[in-house]
Amino acid sequence: MPTMLLGPANTSGRVDETFIYIVGISAVLLLLVTGCMIYFVVRYSRKRHPQAEEVKESVWLEVFWTVVPTLLALSMFYFGWVNFKYIRTPVKDAISVNVVASKWAWLFIYENGKRSDVLRVPVNKPVRLVLTSADVIHSLYIPAFRIKEDCVPGIKTYLGFNANETGTYDIFCTEYCGVGHSQMLSKVIVISGEEFAKWYETTEASGAAKKGQLLLQDKGCLGCHSIDGSKKAGPSFKGLYRARETVITNGAERTVIVDDAYIKDYVRHPNIDIVKGYQPIMPVIPVTDAELALLVEYIKTLK
Ligand code: CUA
Repeated sequence: MPTMLLGPANTSGRVDETFIYIVGISAVLLLLVTGCMIYFVVRYSRKRHPQAEEVKESVWLEVFWTVVPTLLALSMFYFGWVNFKYIRTPVKDAISVNVVASKWAWLFIYENGKRSDVLRVPVNKPVRLVLTSADVIHSLYIPAFRIKEDCVPGIKTYLGFNANETGTYDIFCTEYCGVGHSQMLSKVIVISGEEFAKWYETTEASGAAKKGQLLLQDKGCLGCHSIDGSKKAGPSFKGLYRARETVITNGAERTVIVDDAYIKDYVRHPNIDIVKGYQPIMPVIPVTDAELALLVEYIKTLK
């Protein structure tokens, strides 16, 4: 494979390179065409050139301006194709991470079963993402790596990258998926291999509250409900337990106290009460009674 332009071996380098190449050629062509046009307008204006004369065709000129642009267009295709192939070809020995998108949260599941709502990866190691969705079509977008791919319910799609710098990079959803779309955010955290191994091997502490916390993450609840008091598409879980909330039931306002029974009832039958100041957008989340009890235990700890 020729490597004259194919420098950095990562997705963002490849995309930038192709982009700059195409923009560069376009800029040269723009200047050339505009320059010729202005020159001819001045040179052959009626004032300077009152008498029209016949211009003889030139085979060489025609061949030149057909062949050169064709080669330029093909060269743009070539770099686009080679780099596209690089980005699309799965790397062997990549770390595989399953990505489950749901309204409106990201869940990353590793090969050992470890789960996270942010994507932690080691630096300089190829990573392969296997994407799917639990409900509607979402799209995972990592601008810093110049990659995106749809998450479609019922099928698997793939993305690969190799992060060569540690740091934290944004993840966006880039397919409109409903009210919480703009808040469907996460991060890629690129850390050293040792740091990653340490994180990868740690198992979460057990206990009802901890299990509840992981469940919230799994069920995608944290996409809409914060645990630190900040406002998202739904009310924060912080300080929610035993709080007085104003809700609208059948158009009439009433005050409720958020206790075990209320939380469980709300999850089972969302949107019968609408919490004042919020939209009735809570989906029905499939949870068992045992899971629901764990969720409540965790919410109790968020004072
Ligand atoms: Cu998920 Cu937009």
